[in-house]
Amino acid sequence: MKDRLIVALDTDDGEDIDWLSGTLMDTVGWFKIGFQALNALGNECFPWFSQNGYRVFVDLKFHDIPNTVARDVGTMAKHGARMINMHAAGGFEMMQAARASADDAAYDANLRRPVLLGVTILTSIDEAGFQQNFGSERGLTEQVVYLAQLAQAAGLDGVVASPLEIEPIRKACGNKFLIVTPGIRPEWAETGDQRRMTTPAEAIERGADYIVVGRPILDAEDPEEAVYRILQEMRGA
Ligand code: C5P
Repeated sequence: MKDRLIVALDTDDGEDIDWLSGTLMDTVGWFKIGFQALNALGNECFPWFSQNGYRVFVDLKFHDIPNTVARDVGTMAKHGARMINMHAAGGFEMMQAARASADDAAYDANLRRPVLLGVTILTSIDEAGFQQNFGSERGLTEQVVYLAQLAQAAGLDGVVASPLEIEPIRKACGNKFLIVTPGIRPEWAETGDQRRMTTPAEAIERGADYIVVGRPILDAEDPEEAVYRILQEMRGA
């Protein structure tokens, strides 16, 4: 389960990150870094994480014209990111360009190609919020499945979605398509802005390949214990 838990380092406090990454070294296999952590650490963090046994998911949710996203993805692939995401809503052509660029960058740098994920609909948005923000004819789950199929057709390896959508995505995209789920809340953690959530155990039961957890760990009094409890829950699923 260690390899299926991704800890979201949503902080720009370098000391916190140093402490966490030192403490969790044998317990956690993946860190997710976004704008804040990357800003605090710089690209020098990639070799450090890798030497210390961590894989890095670069969560910058790219969403731009195909040429720009292709370059963004290529840059992060060259640094050794093991997972990279982009908004599937950026479109088929954008995702195709990202895939081609990741292939080239990995080949040139003699690295493994990073896993590429399409973000479907943010887990902080519920059905009412979806209708308000997107004004779509489709329902939220239908849109998630539509974007997952689009991402798959464009050559991405999987999607970021809520654990509540795993079943319809599996049905549409098959078992090899990766499903990474944020929107994870143990019973003992605060909900915050997340809306489409489950517990760690339920996400694993529903068939998530990876779960992403941030605040329940980062804001815990004892983050190491929080990780331990989450891993226990995942193992019990
Ligand atoms: O603190 P929390 O556990 O809610 O963190 C979830 C992480 O997953 C955050 O870094 C957030 O940016 C990210 N994320 C998300 N929902 C998505 C995609 C990414 O919450 N659909």
